[in-house]
Amino acid sequence: MRVSSGVPGFDDLVEGGLPGHRLYVVSGPPGSGKTTFSSQFITQGARSGENCLYVTMHESKEELINDMSNFEFGFSKVMRSDRVQFLNLVTESGKRTITQFGTDGGLTSRLKAFIEKNDIDRAVIDSTMLLQHFFADMSEEITGFLSTLKQTDTTTLLISEMTDPTSYADEHYLAHGVIFFHNFMESGGMTRGVQIIKMRGTKIDCDIHKIGFSDRGLRVFPDEKVKR
Ligand SMILES: Nc1ncnc2c1ncn2[C@@H]1O[C@H](COP(=O)(O)OP(=O)(O)OP(=O)(O)O)[C@@H](O)[C@H]1O
Ligand SMILES: [Mg+2]
Repeated sequence: MRVSSGVPGFDDLVEGGLPGHRLYVVSGPPGSGKTTFSSQFITQGARSGENCLYVTMHESKEELINDMSNFEFGFSKVMRSDRVQFLNLVTESGKRTITQFGTDGGLTSRLKAFIEKNDIDRAVIDSTMLLQHFFADMSEEITGFLSTLKQTDTTTLLISEMTDPTSYADEHYLAHGVIFFHNFMESGGMTRGVQIIKMRGTKIDCDIHKIGFSDRGLRVFPDEKVKR
């Protein structure tokens, strides 16, 4: 089963869509488009009648809607519909708020139970930084967290800021696919692109493809390549 990303042009890079029920890591520098991509992914799912989940930290639903308010791809409407569940797991003051999930176990088991109970088809976790609030030993606990997500029937995007742009982290190796957004200065302007680093079971083109923002959100130009 292929899942449409909701981002014009993107599905052409991955044989028509993301393989469903899998876990993908979305990485890239600040402002490169990770949250916009994920918001379009959720909008696409909600519009197709899927149950969706958006998980953030330090950010209310209204703030997220406001961040995306330059765009007109219908995000605010789906976020206010009952197709999308929103969870802000860490408050401004750094306080954890997983009581929304019940009282049993840690983040991993509670999130799994929530996903199963609500029959979630698509999920976005924005971002891995929130895990630091829950895991005492990140490198040990992230493996269990990712394996658990991989075992659900949900197609999940896990946003991962790369604190060290030269080295990949555990989540990049464990995920079924890695989507990388680039932005860099070139001849006086900002060049933006997207690159599929890996996508298990799919023939991919690993080049960097040009992306652009407009009122309609992010789009990919599958035939235009960008050199770094
Ligand atoms: N119409 C537009 N034209 C050009 N750029 C735009 C337009 N609308 C928004 N942007 C910019 O696109 C960027 C997209 O940001 P987005 O929030 O998706 O990135 P991100 O990778 O999630 O960043 P962060 O790591 O900070 O969370 C923002 O910097 C925003 O200012
Ligand atoms: Mg973001």
